[in-house]
Amino acid sequence: MIDEQARLLSNREVAADFYLARLNTPHIAARIEPGQFVNIQVSAGMTPLLRIPLSVSGVDSEGGIIEVLYEEVGPKTRALSQLGPDVVLPTLGPLGKGFAPPPEGMRVVLVGGGIGMPPLLYWGLELKQRAHQTALLVGARTANKHLPNELLTPAADAVHLATDDGSLGHAGLVIDLLQYELGEKGPCAVYCCGPHGMMQAVAAICLEAQVPCQVSLEEYMACGIGICVGCAVELATAKGDTDYGRYARICVDGPAFDVRQIKWGNAWPT
Ligand SMILES: Cc1cc2nc3c(=O)[nH]c(=O)nc-3n(C[C@H](O)[C@H](O)[C@H](O)COP(=O)(O)OP(=O)(O)OC[C@H]3O[C@@H](n4cnc5c(N)ncnc54)[C@H](O)[C@@H]3O)c2cc1C
Ligand code: FES
Repeated sequence: MIDEQARLLSNREVAADFYLARLNTPHIAARIEPGQFVNIQVSAGMTPLLRIPLSVSGVDSEGGIIEVLYEEVGPKTRALSQLGPDVVLPTLGPLGKGFAPPPEGMRVVLVGGGIGMPPLLYWGLELKQRAHQTALLVGARTANKHLPNELLTPAADAVHLATDDGSLGHAGLVIDLLQYELGEKGPCAVYCCGPHGMMQAVAAICLEAQVPCQVSLEEYMACGIGICVGCAVELATAKGDTDYGRYARICVDGPAFDVRQIKWGNAWPT
């Protein structure tokens, strides 16, 4: 883990309230894997106090550049959205454990929505380089909440969109698209990141279908480095393979987990 002085290269709105920032961080860019995240200090003052954990959505390791995609939802993302080129942001990374690879040659389905898209975009690019056939299923509330095609299409062989209000792509939930992929197109490995309800539904479907599935649990975090235990998630079985027995700390033991590891509660892992 490195605390690097990252230089902001660009920061632009790419969909309604979604921003794409490019940061020059050569040391982090050389090491970060898909599914890992960085913790960025967006202000030199006391507020916002905490750093903001963001997954990496793309890497140019030779150029020393990482990309992060974020939705403006509160003080830290608002502060970041207002910054321009050449601002220097202390950035800790690479953090956490990323995605484990699928079985060699297996088709992959990536299922994402909202702030869950960034790690899937980086993972999709990597999987294509490893010659996995990939489909990217993306859910959003409405058309202007979808990321532009230029960001989605490089990450998969096929991209399928859904909107809750029917304004773009399939009218309904991204889960419907997953059911179709599993029912019609044969064996695959699934990777998912998005709102809590979506990840829980995807986990249930994949457990039922006995399809390998990993989720990235981007829970609210404080320290992001394993100290505060504010990001604990209960495990399905207490294997004693973490320092906290029945619980894992999402920031160091995840954020990527096999869905079979997690004790899924009524609404969310408890
Ligand atoms: C490992 C990790 C990776 C992440 N990657 C990304 C990313 O790539 N892009 C991105 O936009 N965001 C990402 N997030 C989420 C982002 O860090 C939070 O949304 C952050 O709290 C925003 O800070 P804020 O001060 O702007 O808003 P806050 O005031 O902290 O939050 C605004 C609202 O969103 C809710 N909220 C905050 N975080 C979460 C969460 N994780 N899940 C559900 N609700 C939440 C809060 O309860 C509050 O109502 C990631 C989080 C983690 C832990
Ligand atoms: S956020 Fe502090 S231990 Fe995970």
